Amino acid sequence: AGDVVRRDRFSGGPAREFLSSMDADRRIFAADLAVDRAHVVMLAEQGIVEDDVAADVLAALDDVESAGHENLPEGEDVHAAIETAVIERVGEEGGKMHTARSRNDEVATCIRHRLRGDLLDAAATTVALREALLEVASEHTDTVMPGYTHLQPAQPTTVAHWLCSYEQAIARDTERLLDAYDRTNRSPLGAAAFAGTTFDIDRDRTAELLGFDSIVENSMDASSARDFLLESVSALAIHATTLSGIAEDVIVFANRGFVELSDDYASTSSIMPQKKNPDTLELVRSTAGDAAAGLQGLLTTLKGLPRAYNRDLQNATPHAWETVDAVVEATDVVGGAIATADWPEETLAEAAGEGFSTATGVADLLAAHGLPFRTAHEVVAVASEKGADLQAVEDAAEEVLGESLDAYVDPEDVEAALDPAASAESRDSVGGPAAVAVESYLDDADARLAE
Ligand code: ARG
Repeated sequence: AGDVVRRDRFSGGPAREFLSSMDADRRIFAADLAVDRAHVVMLAEQGIVEDDVAADVLAALDDVESAGHENLPEGEDVHAAIETAVIERVGEEGGKMHTARSRNDEVATCIRHRLRGDLLDAAATTVALREALLEVASEHTDTVMPGYTHLQPAQPTTVAHWLCSYEQAIARDTERLLDAYDRTNRSPLGAAAFAGTTFDIDRDRTAELLGFDSIVENSMDASSARDFLLESVSALAIHATTLSGIAEDVIVFANRGFVELSDDYASTSSIMPQKKNPDTLELVRSTAGDAAAGLQGLLTTLKGLPRAYNRDLQNATPHAWETVDAVVEATDVVGGAIATADWPEETLAEAAGEGFSTATGVADLLAAHGLPFRTAHEVVAVASEKGADLQAVEDAAEEVLGESLDAYVDPEDVEAALDPAASAESRDSVGGPAAVAVESYLDDADARLAE
């Protein structure tokens, strides 16, 4: 076998390292073996390669698999190295494995084969995170907390309502990952270099053997297209952006004493003994930057590439691996941090009323009793200057309306509207923070997850 003329020209030279993708290809070692097996089985079934040669190649592939990626012979990439390893074991006949294909359709198939598994893992991690968010939410439907806009106290809400807001966003992230999976899970194998082949191959059969849903028909598109990478990394970058929002919220909450992270998800200072820092979530927040960089790297690498295969494509792929690894890890960390955190209810309840956060509820109450909302808004705005309690609302009513407040509303109801917990509880519109609304959301979300 040592005398066999190898098809690759990877004999060395100053650009050897530069050309090689061997290290990055570790990721697709198993995929390449699967692709080789499917291709050889199809070649034998079609009578293109003799059954005994196919059997020898399959046995050699098993042996190469046991030896592992690190024991592959020299090669420009994993595809060349595995072929060399097969020929070393089978002899010259092993070279029949590469009949009717090219590394161009081979690598495109390997990437899709591996990535679809990674996308399913990523989707599964988002589902696990959603389960964690819903679980904690179910314990905190009555835990009132401040809600913010512009980082200013806005209206009281609950911890469960906040958690569900992210569960709902991540549900869309899961959908996007699964959409990307659908278009990734199509087989380019059989496209050959880009221009098809004279051999009577069966592309549907290799697609079936490899568990692809369908084939990428046009052979020029099949070997060149990488929009499935763009789509997958885009879905991951969007999810990382969602995660960065949770991370930022928790960092702010921790700063205000609204949440206590478990020690497992906090870090300390090497000099300041009193510190407990939310480092894990800061790293999660920064993962959105890594994922955006991965997406940007792909977009700029792929922009303006001519048909068909160009070696630039070799450098596009690692952006996807790096992004999916970073984002899956960050998703896991957020799930763990949320599942193990404590929400100090008294601190939260106290803070929930800060900044006259019940003002909108008081205005709503006045409006519900016949005052135009704009006028009610003015009364409560004046009240907020006067101390933001019942007395202030009564004084403001006199001033703005020239009438006593009780001409419109029972002062006891105003008193209730000024209570943060009652305020959150009163907003029971669909999707609102009232326990009844959140419980309904939780039921639906559980059902969606079970699906
Ligand atoms: N390692 C290469 C890649 O990742 C395989 C394809 C090489 N094909 C070629 N025509 N040089 O894209």
